[in-house]
Amino acid sequence: MSFPTHRPRRLRTSPQLRALAAETSLAPGCMVYPLFVLAEGPERREITSMPGCFQLSLDGLEDEVRQVADLGIPAVLLFGLPATKDLEASGAYQEDGIVQQAIRRTKQVAPNLLVIADTCLCEYTSHGHCGVVDPRTGYLLNDPTLELLAKTAVSQARAGADIIAPSDMMDGRVAAIRQALDAEGLATTPILSYAAKYASAFYGPFRDAADSAPQFGDRRQYQMDPANRREALKEMRLDLEEGADMLMVKPALPYLDVLREAWNAFDVPLAAYNVSGEYSMVKAAAAQGWIDEQRVVLELLTGIRRAGADIVITYHAKDAARWLGSGASSPEPLDMPIRGELPCFGEE
Ligand code: PBG
Repeated sequence: MSFPTHRPRRLRTSPQLRALAAETSLAPGCMVYPLFVLAEGPERREITSMPGCFQLSLDGLEDEVRQVADLGIPAVLLFGLPATKDLEASGAYQEDGIVQQAIRRTKQVAPNLLVIADTCLCEYTSHGHCGVVDPRTGYLLNDPTLELLAKTAVSQARAGADIIAPSDMMDGRVAAIRQALDAEGLATTPILSYAAKYASAFYGPFRDAADSAPQFGDRRQYQMDPANRREALKEMRLDLEEGADMLMVKPALPYLDVLREAWNAFDVPLAAYNVSGEYSMVKAAAAQGWIDEQRVVLELLTGIRRAGADIVITYHAKDAARWLGSGASSPEPLDMPIRGELPCFGEE
C-alpha cells in the first residue's frame, strides 16, 4: 500500500493554521446595511417577511444609524417610503422628500457613516414601476425616465448622499446622472451602478418593505433575464463607459458566476446585493431550527466575497458584524493536540 504524497489536510489541523491559510476575509468593513425610512407611521415597524428588519421613522432612523456605525459597518443604503405617490414620482426628487430628510438626519447623527442613496422611482410612482409609463401601451418610457432619475440623484447628492446608486435599469441612466451631477457642482459624488440587476423573484419581501410592488405586469421589460450572463457583462461595460465608479450584481447567490466574470473583466470595486428573499429564506429556515443561522450566514457572505465582491450589501450586516466582533470566525483555542502529538498520517 502506498500513501499519498500530497496532503492538503496538513493546512487544516488547527484553527490558527486554517486562519493563516484562509484566502478570503469577512469583516464588517466590507458590508452595507439597507434601511427603509417612513414618511408616516410608527417609529419602528417590523417587516413581516424580513424578521429583524424594520421600517423606521426619521427618529427611529437616528437610533439605528448610531448602532450601525458602532458596529463598524461603514455604510447604509437608504430607501424612502413617501406619504403620497403619483405618476411623476415627485416624492423622489423633492427637496424635503423622505429620503432627502433621511440622508440629512443620518449625516447629522453619524457623520462618518457613508450614505448610499438608492436612486429609483418605484417607491414613488402610483403604479410601482421604476419610471414613466406610457398609459397607452404600459411600456416604460426610457428617456423621460432619465430626466426624473437625474433630478432625483441631484437632490439626493445635495442632501448629502455620499454615493448615488441607480437601480432602475433604464438605458443610459449612468450617463444622464453623471452629467446632471457634474452640471450641479457634484462632480466628486461617485456612482455605484446596479449594472447587472436581474428580474428576480427574490425581491418579493423587499417590495413589502418598500411598498414598491408594480400594480400591473412585472419588471421584465427593464430588468435582466436570469438566463443571461454575457448580457450582464455588456450592461456593466456600458455603465463603466458612461462613468460608473463601482458596479453591482444583484441578487447575489444565484448570480455568483456573473460576479466572478465581472471580477475577471473589470478593475473597479464590485458590490453584490444579498437581497431580501435570500435573507428571508435563511431567517425562515433558522426559525424552524433547520439550519444554524450564524454559520450559514457567515458561510454565504464568505461565498459572496470569494466570488469577487469587495462590498456586500446585506440585511444580515448587523448580526454578522456582532458575530465577527465576538470572534465567531477567528480561531478558537487550539482544538487539536500539538503537532508533534498528532498521529502520524500513515498510522491514522
Ligand atoms: C428598486 C430596488 C429593488 C431592490 C433594490 N432597489 C426592488 C426591485 O427592483 O423591485 C430590491 C432589494 C431587495 O430585494 O432586497 N428598484
